[in-house]
Amino acid sequence: MGRSNLLIVTALAALALAAPSQAVTDADILNFALNLECLEATFYSYAAYGSGLNSTLRGDGPVAIGGKKAMLSSAVQNYANEVARDEINHVAFLRTALGAAAVACPQIDVGPGFAAIVKAALASANMNMTFSPYDDDLDFLLGAFILEDVGVTAYNGAAPLLESKKNLGAAASIMATEAYHGGIIRTLLYQRGYDMVKPYSLQTVDFAQKVSNLRATVGGGKDQGITSPMANGVMNTPYSSNLVPADSNSLVFARTPTEVLNIVYGGSAAKPGAFYPKGVNGNINGTASTA
Ligand SMILES: *[C@@H]1O[C@H](CO)[C@@H](O)[C@H](O)[C@H]1NC(C)=O
Ligand SMILES: *[C@@H]1O[C@H](CO)[C@@H](O)[C@H](O)[C@H]1NC(C)=O
Ligand SMILES: *[C@@H]1O[C@H](CO)[C@@H](O)[C@H](O)[C@H]1NC(C)=O
Repeated sequence: MGRSNLLIVTALAALALAAPSQAVTDADILNFALNLECLEATFYSYAAYGSGLNSTLRGDGPVAIGGKKAMLSSAVQNYANEVARDEINHVAFLRTALGAAAVACPQIDVGPGFAAIVKAALASANMNMTFSPYDDDLDFLLGAFILEDVGVTAYNGAAPLLESKKNLGAAASIMATEAYHGGIIRTLLYQRGYDMVKPYSLQTVDFAQKVSNLRATVGGGKDQGITSPMANGVMNTPYSSNLVPADSNSLVFARTPTEVLNIVYGGSAAKPGAFYPKGVNGNINGTASTA
């Protein structure tokens, strides 16, 4: 190689090093959050009202798959109504905050998507059963449980990546709302801990533990069921509660976007599936390196 060629190669190498690795912007992070809110709002909207998000809320994204009105007692119906309103408001809020940068809601699957996650959580047992979160109070609460803890860990993981204090404040406020939802869900499930989840031969606490185990396995650990950890693989009875999933400092867990996508895609951030059969929209989507 001639001297001038060598100089050029050296100069190019220096440029490559100097070029910033594609930085994640606040808009990328808020759009990632918007994808999660699209999922939650869609699920609760169907469960509470029997209809999904309108095209304005979807940002003209496709109509969701698999949602329907849940069969709920009046108390749980009230809960569903309130949370549906919160999640819809989050979608609208993020769209306003992002303005023209907001992505459309991606293809959302709140039917077979739930069944796929539960099938994975229960592993080989009960392979031919199809879970639906719309059949009764307990199934609805379990469906909500599958989602809420993931939302909390996603916001907690994203918060330190945000540059603007305004956005950080907004993300903290949304995370607090999701944490209220998660705490309520876990409490309601704990109160029904001994109830059998039909048609599975599993008590509610065990069902929740299996969902938590799956989220831990693919989502970087950072998950806990609604009862205190099992001793020697056997759940203590009467169950002691574990309503707040948190580390030894009682700090809520934080997940990276990749860990979140591992869960909501049903196994791997590299392979869209489950709740997002075509993946999420925006620059943090699992197909490229995602923080
Ligand atoms: C879409 O739904 C939101 C929330 O319910 C509502 O505020 C808005 O008016 C609706 N937009 C249209 C065009 O129906
Ligand atoms: C699951 O499939 C097996 C084999 O087809 C069948 O014997 C069993 O009854 C099924 N279980 C349920 C709950 O449908
Ligand atoms: C996925 O992210 C990459 C960059 O990280 C981007 O180039 C691509 O357009 C994104 N895909 C979608 C569907 O937004």
